[in-house]
Amino acid sequence: MKKGCGRGIVLLAILLLFISSNPIPSSEAATDTLLPNQSLKDGQSLVSANKTFELGFFSPQGSTDRYVGIWYHNIPVQTVVWVANRDRPVADATGLIKFDMYGNLMIVDARGVSFVFTYGFSASTKSTTAKLLDSGNLLLMDANNSSHVLYESFDYPTDTFLPGMKLGVVRWRNRLLASWRNSDNPSTGDFLFGENPNGTHGQMFIWQKNTIYWDSGEWNGEIFSLAQELLSPNFFEYLYVSSSLGDDYFTYSTKNTSIVSRYVMNVSGRIQRLLWSETTREWLVLWSLPKPQCDVYNLCGANGVCSEENVPQCSCLRGFAPLTPAEWSNSVTKSGCERKISLQCGQKGDQNGYLTLPNTIKDRFLSINVKLPADPQYLNVGSPAECQSSCLNNCNCTAYAFTNHCQLWYGNLKDLKRLNDASVTAGGLNLRLAPFEFPDGRKNWIWVVATATVLGSLLFMFYMCYWWRRKERERRKLYQEQTLYAFIRGNLNGHDERGPSFTLFSFSKVADATENFSAANKLGEGGFGPVYKGKLPWGPVIAVKRLSKSSGQGLEEFKNEIMLIAKLQHRNLVRLLGCCIQGGERILIYEYMANKSLDYFLFEETRAVQLDWGRRFNIIEGIVHGLLYLHKHSRLRIIHRDLKVSNILLDDEWCPKISDFGLARIFSSNEVQANTNRVVGTFGYMSPEYASEGLFSTKSDVFSFGVMLLEIVSGKRNAGFHQYGNSFNLLGYAWEMWIEGKWQELVDPVIGDTCKDYQVCKCVHVALLCVQECASDRPTMSEVITMLANENSENVALETPNHPGFFTVKMKTEVDNPPTINEMTATTIDGR
Ligand SMILES: *[C@@H]1O[C@H](CO)[C@@H](O)[C@H](O)[C@H]1NC(C)=O
Ligand SMILES: *[C@@H]1O[C@H](CO)[C@@H](O)[C@H](O)[C@H]1NC(C)=O
Ligand SMILES: *[C@@H]1O[C@H](CO)[C@@H](O)[C@H](O)[C@H]1NC(C)=O
Ligand SMILES: *[C@@H]1O[C@H](CO)[C@@H](O)[C@H](O)[C@H]1NC(C)=O
Ligand SMILES: *[C@@H]1O[C@H](CO)[C@@H](O)[C@H](O)[C@H]1NC(C)=O
Ligand SMILES: *[C@@H]1O[C@H](CO)[C@@H](O)[C@H](O)[C@H]1NC(C)=O
Ligand SMILES: *[C@@H]1O[C@H](CO)[C@@H](O)[C@H](O)[C@H]1NC(C)=O
Ligand SMILES: *[C@@H]1O[C@H](CO)[C@@H](O)[C@H](O)[C@H]1NC(C)=O
Repeated sequence: MKKGCGRGIVLLAILLLFISSNPIPSSEAATDTLLPNQSLKDGQSLVSANKTFELGFFSPQGSTDRYVGIWYHNIPVQTVVWVANRDRPVADATGLIKFDMYGNLMIVDARGVSFVFTYGFSASTKSTTAKLLDSGNLLLMDANNSSHVLYESFDYPTDTFLPGMKLGVVRWRNRLLASWRNSDNPSTGDFLFGENPNGTHGQMFIWQKNTIYWDSGEWNGEIFSLAQELLSPNFFEYLYVSSSLGDDYFTYSTKNTSIVSRYVMNVSGRIQRLLWSETTREWLVLWSLPKPQCDVYNLCGANGVCSEENVPQCSCLRGFAPLTPAEWSNSVTKSGCERKISLQCGQKGDQNGYLTLPNTIKDRFLSINVKLPADPQYLNVGSPAECQSSCLNNCNCTAYAFTNHCQLWYGNLKDLKRLNDASVTAGGLNLRLAPFEFPDGRKNWIWVVATATVLGSLLFMFYMCYWWRRKERERRKLYQEQTLYAFIRGNLNGHDERGPSFTLFSFSKVADATENFSAANKLGEGGFGPVYKGKLPWGPVIAVKRLSKSSGQGLEEFKNEIMLIAKLQHRNLVRLLGCCIQGGERILIYEYMANKSLDYFLFEETRAVQLDWGRRFNIIEGIVHGLLYLHKHSRLRIIHRDLKVSNILLDDEWCPKISDFGLARIFSSNEVQANTNRVVGTFGYMSPEYASEGLFSTKSDVFSFGVMLLEIVSGKRNAGFHQYGNSFNLLGYAWEMWIEGKWQELVDPVIGDTCKDYQVCKCVHVALLCVQECASDRPTMSEVITMLANENSENVALETPNHPGFFTVKMKTEVDNPPTINEMTATTIDGR
């Protein structure tokens, strides 16, 4: 009672406020027009002239709220195409559609004005009528002039795009479809469909909460590049209007009015094309966009491509890989893809472990059939080739396309969709890739790798060869050393002729003895290497000859010397105490000679005084005995081949010792003379037949002895830069003096009166006999001994010597103008 009373009062108030308005007679046939003094109650409706559409209050399924909407009159399934008060429902059935005093159409309910269709008719009192057309458009017209339309519902679309509607910018206002909140709530939902007045004209978008969710691609005048369905021309005529006034919209019309069709932005974010089927009496979905996956904006992220045909739809562009593979495997692909092989362009050095090739190998382009990405940079060039080179020249450019103009893209490529029909975008997208991504580019790469491999293996082989040879050489050397060692052990060690006095030293022992071959211990430099003084731990002083590795003295010569000298024993031959063969070192260890060598004293005036005649004669005798031993009394028959004063060593008692058997040769006992191709020795001491023809025998040693003898007597070198009288060597001079009977002039002045003339004379005589040119004229060493030993030999007639070897060399004819160069200057042929 109380409630009913309250409602009555409210109604009365409204009636008072809005003057009187008469509800349209419910009994009458439905009308399409609401007259100025009429109103439309909940439950009543307007029906268009040919009964296509109906306007009235409705409630969506599952809702009790009352909305004013337009729906198909003839279709049994309630299909609302327009809602007036979508955001301001009437809570109950008290709603009323009526005009106010200015002609504005409005919805009022028990609480007052709920919704006003239109404002603005306030300046002058107008009388208006509302009319629902068969197109579904509700018009508000001047009551006196029906062609003066003040409002039409088509200007304010909700979620449905009907034939005749305009979608886009009309009179500076963008008309968009907005989905219902959900199927039982027509209030404005999350999805919008329409043009983007700020973006490319003629391109449709779906927004979800103000972000782009889908786009149709560009309108090429006939179709949308990505949504050919959107305007399929079967039953409709489409019109795209882009006027100079700023209007920019799509509209369409039906060719056949019996076809009932519409577009709906549905609550799930799909734009649907629906067709009423009379036969099945239901709405058929002709198509819907976006398609379930790919048309979602940038579904696959940067550099990813969506393809409806594939499962899953997302993949990466060629040359790219998922940025977050774990996410991708769960179909979360927004993160996109990253490049696998860096572009050549702008690359400095070795990134990602790939070899950087010379600049001549450039990035290349792969043409792919995808929807062109958004936001291209336009470039005003005339040909695809120019477009391509522009892209190639900018390291940031990742793709280009040339249709009517050149479009370039920088950085990541977004929202790529695979196109199935190649004709859709002529030219397609040209994606920039590193050259290795291409089969022939890879061939290049393979070539480089192959070359490197081959070179590498060759180098390796060379190295192995070198290594092997070195190893082999070392092995051979070691083997030789071992055999030599064994040989020496077998032949010398334990030879009881001299007891165990020949020793094989270890290198460390030798190094210890010589204080690691210190310079302080160096005695001199021999032909084959330096000689050091050393002291063995148990006392004896030794001379250590360390054969230099570059000495050229082969293993044979080394072996030769050892075998010879080690087996020889004579007080006038230097004694070899041992040797060391280890790690390539070849060392000979001799007894130490306190007074060095004969030449050290003989040719130095200050030291020569120490050699009085007695000593000199002793030395001569010693040498003679040593030589005789070599030539005759040793078990072998040995030719020294390199006798000279520097090879005569002197011990602390001035006893001479012949040394340096490196060149000595063993003769079989019946062999008299041998020939060698390699003439080695020292000029000045070499017999003529040896020096010129390589013939050697004991007589060539005799010749050398003769030269030494003269040197000992005279204290002068045979060979040298010295001129003696008219001769350029000692032999010539001695011969000259001898012939002239002035042999005393030959005698070293430092000897003074210590000499016994007859001995000196005999020595000169013997010497001249020894150096005769013809080898057979020379005496043997045993004859020499006899000649020298005979104390009373003053009277014993010695043979008269013939002129000595090299006598012809003397420059007698050029006495007045002595030459500065003498062929026979004391050069040693260092065969060593
Ligand atoms: C008001 O409505 C009545 C019918 O209820 C009608 O006869 C009359 O002509 C209308 N008046 C105007 C001014 O339209
Ligand atoms: C209504 O139908 C009639 C005939 O059925 C037709 O002549 C007329 O053009 C139609 N009107 C509209 C608005 O469709
Ligand atoms: C409309 O016509 C009526 C008479 O038919 C007149 O009284 C009224 O003033 C006219 N209104 C306008 C706005 O012209
Ligand atoms: C009716 O309205 C139209 C459009 O506003 C106008 O052109 C026309 O002159 C009006 N007719 C009359 C009779 O006022
Ligand atoms: C278009 O730009 C204007 C001004 O920049 C902005 O207010 C409006 O929201 C934009 N519209 C769309 C659909 O982005
Ligand atoms: C209109 O469509 C209906 C149903 O499809 C068809 O029967 C009719 O022939 C069509 N009319 C014309 C003019 O095309
Ligand atoms: C919206 O449209 C899609 C595609 O046709 C459909 O699958 C979906 O069910 C529709 N949503 C509603 C609420 O009808
Ligand atoms: C490339 O992009 C980088 C960073 O975005 C920028 O610093 C550089 O200037 C660009 N180079 C060119 C040639 O556009």
